[in-house]
Amino acid sequence: MSEPKEQGSTKLWGGRFAEGTAASVEAFTASIQYDARLYRYDIMGSMVHARMLARQGLISGEERDAILAGLAGIRDEIEAGTFAFRPELEDIHMNIEKALTDRIGPAGAKLHTARSRNDQVALDMRLYLRDEGRELDRLLVTVQAAFVRLARRYLGVVMPGYTHLQRAQPVLLSHHLLAYYEMFGRDRDRIADWGRRMNVLPLGAAAMAGTGLPIDREWVAAELGFAAVSANSMDTVSDRDFVLELLFCLNLTQLHLSRLAEELVLWSSKEFEFVQIGDRYCTGSSIMPQKKNPDIPELIRGKSGRVTGALVSLLVTVKGLPLTYNRDLQEDKEPVFDALDTVKASLAITAELLANTVFDKDRLLRATHGGFMTATDLADYLVRRNMPFREAHGVVGRIVAHCQERGIELADMTLEEMQRFSDLIEADVFDVLSVQGSVNSRVSTGGTAQAQVEEALRRAEQQLGMV
Ligand code: ARG
Repeated sequence: MSEPKEQGSTKLWGGRFAEGTAASVEAFTASIQYDARLYRYDIMGSMVHARMLARQGLISGEERDAILAGLAGIRDEIEAGTFAFRPELEDIHMNIEKALTDRIGPAGAKLHTARSRNDQVALDMRLYLRDEGRELDRLLVTVQAAFVRLARRYLGVVMPGYTHLQRAQPVLLSHHLLAYYEMFGRDRDRIADWGRRMNVLPLGAAAMAGTGLPIDREWVAAELGFAAVSANSMDTVSDRDFVLELLFCLNLTQLHLSRLAEELVLWSSKEFEFVQIGDRYCTGSSIMPQKKNPDIPELIRGKSGRVTGALVSLLVTVKGLPLTYNRDLQEDKEPVFDALDTVKASLAITAELLANTVFDKDRLLRATHGGFMTATDLADYLVRRNMPFREAHGVVGRIVAHCQERGIELADMTLEEMQRFSDLIEADVFDVLSVQGSVNSRVSTGGTAQAQVEEALRRAEQQLGMV
């Protein structure tokens, strides 16, 4: 059993305690190792809180000024790396408050008026995550821009489009690349939407029931850039929806990156040889001298596991909690910090990787030959001659089987050979059997025809301000 560390508690909350906390308990409950990263937001919130207290006559102008100067000094020390964080003070809130009181005396002890760590930590997290949301948007734009640049560079290049990882229909490489532009665009929308919902001031809920002191929450909200104040003090201190929602957003982004990573792994293999990833963005093998491995995409794909873990971890933490604040909620931080670090690093390296990836146009074109990729075009050709689609599907199926037997492609057949399967087929059939003809026939909105893709590319460039 661990012995009490001291007689009588020296904690900021120690009044009712006859004995000090066991060292093992201090070590177990401390969060300062990771919540120190919230310092800037903790100080920002405290500064506005102090100014509000003075406006409301709860502290004097001199006390306010002492608090503001003290907090600014602490911020400078933390930024200079000279601030001594103390685990026995548990978390970032009490480390800063204790340092403030040590610096400025009694005025420091007034800062926590009409406030609890329960609404304070909710405020710090909202302020911190709001900034992180902006950074995520910036990184998502760099990835979108990398795709747009590639789509512009390779405009006109054809490749096989796949379903079930089987060659399906020819498409433009740019069409494939712009699919990712759309995905990351939805990620941006999702974060903007989350940002609107989370931008609500929690401060003023106090421990959980509100406060009897005459505070001005609306003023604090306006000063800190919040669009509203929270409506229910109990909900305010127990709510972690805004963390969970962001974790889900992060999961979808990492999942998109992971799907891209999988394609890059496949495409850079000898089996495909669609892309060459620059030497500076690959690694070698310690035993096989010939190897050049796509470790970056593999790690991005691998890291999606921990991002999913973070979401699941917090879902399970919150699941059985009664209202309102419970210490369990401290466990929201490490998962969301780790998920943010992981996704931001993955986005940044992906933008670089894409800028250092070269596609092999000839190889992509050659891959569209073989695999009967224009079979759907042949069926559509028959439909245009009034054959019901199901019937046309059957006719072309039989033609494909015939070609397979003879070891030839659709375009290698003679007209007479084809006419044995349907007398609707005429000499103009060869136009639809070419890869270019197939691609450019797909003019439906969102289709892969060159005109459609050029239009989509222009729109993307405009959206990103690249033109
Ligand atoms: N470190 C705590 C957290 O992250 C701060 C709030 C603690 N509140 C309390 N009453 N113990 O949740």
